[in-house]
Amino acid sequence: MDCEGMDCEGMDCEGMDCEGMDCEGEDSAVAVSVGVIGTGMIGTQHVHRLSCQVVGSRVGAVFDVATDRAAALASEVGAQAAASWPELVDDPAVDAVLIASPGDLHVEQVLACLAAGKPVLCEKPLATTADDALKVVQAEAAAGRRLVQVGFMRRYDAGFRDVKAAIEGGVIGEPLLAHAVHRNPGVPGTFVGEMSLTDSLVHEFDTFRWLFAQEIVATTVVPVRQSPLGAAHLRDPQIVLLELANGAVVDAESFVNCQYGYDVRCEVVGSLGTVALDNPRTTLVLGAGRRGEAVPPDWGVRFGRAYQDEIQAWIDALTTGRTVSEGASDAWDGYAAAAVAETAVASFTRGARTEVTLVEKPDLYAGAGGSANGQEDEL
Ligand SMILES: NC(=O)c1ccc[n+]([C@@H]2O[C@H](COP(=O)([O-])OP(=O)(O)OC[C@H]3O[C@@H](n4cnc5c(N)ncnc54)[C@H](O)[C@@H]3O)[C@@H](O)[C@H]2O)c1
Repeated sequence: MDCEGMDCEGMDCEGMDCEGMDCEGEDSAVAVSVGVIGTGMIGTQHVHRLSCQVVGSRVGAVFDVATDRAAALASEVGAQAAASWPELVDDPAVDAVLIASPGDLHVEQVLACLAAGKPVLCEKPLATTADDALKVVQAEAAAGRRLVQVGFMRRYDAGFRDVKAAIEGGVIGEPLLAHAVHRNPGVPGTFVGEMSLTDSLVHEFDTFRWLFAQEIVATTVVPVRQSPLGAAHLRDPQIVLLELANGAVVDAESFVNCQYGYDVRCEVVGSLGTVALDNPRTTLVLGAGRRGEAVPPDWGVRFGRAYQDEIQAWIDALTTGRTVSEGASDAWDGYAAAAVAETAVASFTRGARTEVTLVEKPDLYAGAGGSANGQEDEL
């Protein structure tokens, strides 16, 4: 890693891909100062990205209820350890906020950022209920200004972008249906209740709205025989059928205790052909009569580059006078994904196909799939 000249003494940059970055001489006076709420698994990674990998940003403050961990991380990257998340949001030295706290806290924290007029990148999900997510949409619509970006980073993944380009380029004709899998080797004890739908498969809800440029109008959860290896309180695996507004259908598998690795794939079937997303190819090993390659161990490895590109795009937007980066998921997308997740939970509970109800889309979000709509709000 070539970080020569960077002010990152004492940082834990192990495993970060900074090679080739021109970090030298970065002027912290012009960098966007980001406050990070939540320094757990992904919050810690994002703090390191903002400090070391992303060009044009620095971490101004962090907050976590695990105050010792937050203080240690703050001192690693030269940031303040805020006494509370409201203090961080109101800190004049913080230009923008990245929220990486648990999902059920996001809405209150996002609304505080909106009240303070600060751009915010909120990790997914925007909210754990559609009503909560709607509060963000309504607050932005009332202010007439988009400040919220939601961390559906797949929109920045090279593989998913290729799938989108193939669809938009007409390569597969009219997209008709898709098959998707989303498997994790395991989940922490904090993964409870309906989180397979509201926290994990919510990625697919955003992904297929975006790939097909269509809203999801109905969901059906198909009960599946439970794996003996998963936590007893989780229904795992599950299959969810998604119906899109134009009649296209997606079958999406969620399996959060698959044991063998992190595995996200899909195939979109069109009238002329198909486009399939595989795990990125690493090294191919031929030996002992077999041909094989590694499966990514976790989401951090599989989507590390996508997180970096997502945050870089956000910082680039902020430094060029925009508040949401082009093509990112915005508050409407976060709301729609939360509404689909809630509908899927209802479908399982009722044992029946359940329709998604969305409010009318405010003009502020004109342009399908989170595309930029010319907001030129200044920081
Ligand atoms: N985009 C992705 O692919 C992706 C991947 C992982 C996690 N996430 C999302 O990021 C969020 C965090 O996930 P995680 O895996 O890092 O979880 P985590 O449990 O590792 O971290 C959450 C952190 O929030 C802290 N916290 C709890 N209450 C808080 C409060 N009131 N204020 C501030 N911090 C508080 C916890 O102490 C913990 O450190 C979740 O919404 C999750 O869905 C997104």
